[in-house]
Amino acid sequence: MTQHLCGIDDFDRSTREALFSRAARHADAPSKNPVLDGKIVACLFFEPSTRTHLSFESAAQRLGMGVIGFDDPSVTSAAKGETLEDTIRVVQTFADCIVLRHPEAGAAARAAAVAGVPVVNAGDGDNEHPTQTLLDMFTVQRECGRLNGLNIVFAGDVRWGRTAHSLALAMAPGNQLTFVAPDALQVTDDFAAETAARGAAVSKTQRLADAVPAADVIYMTRPQRERWPEGVTDSDVDVLTPELLQTAKSDAIVMHPLPRTAELPVACDADQRARYFQQVANGVPVRMAILEHLLGA
Ligand code: NCD
Repeated sequence: MTQHLCGIDDFDRSTREALFSRAARHADAPSKNPVLDGKIVACLFFEPSTRTHLSFESAAQRLGMGVIGFDDPSVTSAAKGETLEDTIRVVQTFADCIVLRHPEAGAAARAAAVAGVPVVNAGDGDNEHPTQTLLDMFTVQRECGRLNGLNIVFAGDVRWGRTAHSLALAMAPGNQLTFVAPDALQVTDDFAAETAARGAAVSKTQRLADAVPAADVIYMTRPQRERWPEGVTDSDVDVLTPELLQTAKSDAIVMHPLPRTAELPVACDADQRARYFQQVANGVPVRMAILEHLLGA
């Protein structure tokens, strides 16, 4: 059966651990995989992307694979009314794996339902972003030395931000999750209940100042303005100032999936706890390991 990565639950714990070991080897010395030589990845990006798109292309090429794709759907048959399903039926005849980013929640699962090659969700609307989560977990494991017993603070737009959703679901067992956001951008009660059911101790607050001092991981996110329904404003999004960061533990780490906006000032970059550029660098070895796993290489 074709394996896909639509949501973070598609990879169980032992799969993730094997993947992180592989990724660690690629982080030290990226190497081609002879089994993948000449195979092709199609990157279909129906939404803007810098890191995810380029790091998948880099990962594929470092493995010895070829890459096709687009980053502007207005130049594809989608502009003529082609359905996502038909686009996938076509592209699967050109490629061995499809990486899909799409503005609609559930798009990756729809694609997987008709695809005979592995589909990787590179972000679907406000739903999930599992490859970001795997690189985030790889970063936490390396920087904090463990994936449980942590107090993880998710701040910014946790209602519409898919990176926070996937990471919170994956890290729920055995961790404390604190969601920091104004009411309009706070996680839904259903989502908080889902993380609690998975084993997290969950709390919510509006202010970073309440959460930063006890945090092991401070995961900042930007306001997802393009996903907001009419009437939502961002006037209350809290900023992680260098002064606030002074109240954090000395061994806490600051993460951000990037791109950042005002919530994470450049003035924080010099802080020794900033890990967001290391996090982005981890994207290539982790995506190499994901492609190898899905293609059985
Ligand atoms: C994120 C995304 O697209 O969800 N970016 C990324 O892939 N690193 C975060 C965001 O856009 O805010």
